[in-house]
Amino acid sequence: MITTTGLTKVYRSGGREVTALDGVDLHVREGEVYGVVGQSGAGKSTLIRCVNLLERPSSGTVTVAGQDLTALAGRGPRAGAELRRARSRIGMVFQHFNLLSSRTVQSNIELPLEILGVSGKERERKALELLDLVGLADKAKAYPAQLSGGQKQRVGIARALAGDPKVLLSDESTSALDPETTRSILQLLRDLNQQLGLTVLLITHEMEVVKTICDSAALMKGGRVVESGTVSEILATPGSELAAELFPVGGEASGPDRTVVDVTFHGEAATQPVISQLSRTYNIDISILGAAMDTVAGKQVGRMRIELPGRFEENVVPIGFLREQGLQVDVADTKTPAPADALLKEGAK
Ligand SMILES: Nc1ncnc2c1ncn2[C@@H]1O[C@H](COP(=O)(O)OP(=O)(O)O)[C@@H](O)[C@H]1O
Ligand SMILES: [Mg+2]
Repeated sequence: MITTTGLTKVYRSGGREVTALDGVDLHVREGEVYGVVGQSGAGKSTLIRCVNLLERPSSGTVTVAGQDLTALAGRGPRAGAELRRARSRIGMVFQHFNLLSSRTVQSNIELPLEILGVSGKERERKALELLDLVGLADKAKAYPAQLSGGQKQRVGIARALAGDPKVLLSDESTSALDPETTRSILQLLRDLNQQLGLTVLLITHEMEVVKTICDSAALMKGGRVVESGTVSEILATPGSELAAELFPVGGEASGPDRTVVDVTFHGEAATQPVISQLSRTYNIDISILGAAMDTVAGKQVGRMRIELPGRFEENVVPIGFLREQGLQVDVADTKTPAPADALLKEGAK
């Protein structure tokens, strides 16, 4: 639904060059909620602004719903009109709502329709329908200043939907909201995604947002996508930084008389039975040092750090058992992680 290839953006200001995007290949499938995470300055906002051509990429292509937007940009009036039409099918939600304070809620939602030249009656019908959809049917005549942050963002979302978009872009849309309001806005985005088949590309610096509603995610650093995939795929990637941030587990590493392993569940095996089977089968006591589990798309996913008694050479068989159950097992060994793990894989054969 959204594809970028080799997307690059270089800002030039005062003789200085900043490479905000450095060859981003992104693929967002139709109907999914896709989260882009990364620290401040990673290039997330630039990416989303390039996707709807608010920002002109320096090079690379952006395709949305089968249409190459970069090819339309700056190609004369006819292509310009086509680009404007294409962009009206991409909704955008902002962190600070960007509502006009002098206009009522209804009139804020009608604004993009005015620009598209939609008649007054039709605009009103559409605005009221959207207000109902976002749960603010009684606020049509209110002004933004009379609304809470969560309500303002609902208006922002309604406005973004005015052009019947196929795609919704969201730039930190919950970052200015408290945790409870964040949850209700994320739920609204999820409902819209499911009811309207809306594809959602959202950027956030909060891992919680990804865990709550995203089907897929990408991690950006220094203008590049360094990891991406479905949440399950990310979890299944050994050594994934995104997985560790999404599901952080505490607890100490292995020592001379104990073996500490991180077990990653990505929806195939249920958690508790595997751990208790392990304990019963090999007659060992297992301590759970830390765990971060969640249900994503109806599957239990997450990571758990467990401790087995004895050195890891003594635990080759139990760890092999866990791997046979389809679980990913990484030895949490601060000193020699790679060789120990390689030996373990040898031993498990
Ligand atoms: N209009 C601009 N002019 C110059 N530099 C910019 C501009 N917008 C963003 N940048 C720079 O591009 C980099 C990426 O910024 P941004 O996309 O806003 O990151 P993020 O949203 O991940 O915090 C930063 O180094 C930022 O300073
Ligand atoms: Mg930003």
